[in-house]
Amino acid sequence: MKKVGIIGVGEYLPEKVLSNADLEKMVDTSDEWITTRTGIKERRLVSKHEAVSDLSIKAAKAALRDAKVKAQELDLIIVASITPDFQFPSVACLLQNALGAKGAAAFDISAACAGFVYAIIIAQQFIARGNYKNVLVVGAEVLSSITDWQDRNTCVLFGDGAAAAVLSEVKSGGILSTYMGCDGSASELLMVPGGGSRNPTSHKTIDNRMHYIKMRGNELFKIAVRSMQEAGEKALSLCGLSAKDVDCFIPHQANVRILTAVASRLGIAQEKIYFNIQKYGNMSSASLATALCGAVKEKRIKKGDIVLLDAFGAGLVWGACVIKW
Ligand code: UT7
Repeated sequence: MKKVGIIGVGEYLPEKVLSNADLEKMVDTSDEWITTRTGIKERRLVSKHEAVSDLSIKAAKAALRDAKVKAQELDLIIVASITPDFQFPSVACLLQNALGAKGAAAFDISAACAGFVYAIIIAQQFIARGNYKNVLVVGAEVLSSITDWQDRNTCVLFGDGAAAAVLSEVKSGGILSTYMGCDGSASELLMVPGGGSRNPTSHKTIDNRMHYIKMRGNELFKIAVRSMQEAGEKALSLCGLSAKDVDCFIPHQANVRILTAVASRLGIAQEKIYFNIQKYGNMSSASLATALCGAVKEKRIKKGDIVLLDAFGAGLVWGACVIKW
């Protein structure tokens, strides 16, 4: 088995900023409530004609530049997204064409907020076995397209963005262990009920606002903490490390209170947590991706550091990955 590492990262956040003050004018909420309950101060939104592939292309180009890999050298593109441009074709195929990555196979995966860590784990398999050399992994979302802007329970939480990573064989370090979990029995806690084959789009689904995110946040909160703790512990123990060895903890950015609770249950010092939720909100698969990219760009991670990626989302699914940088 070959050692697999992340050799480049890149991100793209749309320019438009929606602040808590802006939301106060849209629904019955307050900056005080949003800040204390979630940690979010603002989030980014796409402009009118921007879709997930547009965000993905910019993030992917930045990651390829960072990795010094040409698009033509890519063997595989995996995009994690729950807000693809179309039901089909996949975002990954649109990206393959836009990048000119003629030799690359391409597909999307649906693992919601855990999508980026799931995609990294999938990519690792192909490279470790020697099937592929360079794999591009993208986490990209336009959650504003499935957000009910009349529902204060959800609309204050989400944002749009994208980030990408290039994975390749490395001589030392790289991915030390991975773990994935799932509990499909609680899938109704977080879903978009309309627009699929269960409830195809109709006047009725639109009138009932079934094409928007429905979330039972309070019930999810405890499961999120428990699942992310489990994922972190399992991934660390699989490579013989403990929380004390972690230099940078990069979790999915669902809620500051979830992240601090997970870190404290794992025994990771609070200052080792990387946050970007205050400026971007929850961007599902793009949250972990942009957090990794931010941590690298802000030099929160240096060579030889132990990095723990940890995510949880709709499905319910969760996963973690320990990387020696
Ligand atoms: O990313 C994937 C996974 N996502 C998660 O794991 C999300 C997990 N859940 C959460 O982060 C939190 O549960 C939320 C941020 C969604 C909600 O925070 P909470 O502390 O659990 O609040 P709550 O749902 O228990 O609501 C408390 C009160 C309610 O009022 P009453 O019934 O106590 O009078 C809500 O109606 O807060 C009210 N509320 C709001 N008030 C002002 C709900 N949303 C708002 C709002 N502004 N935006």
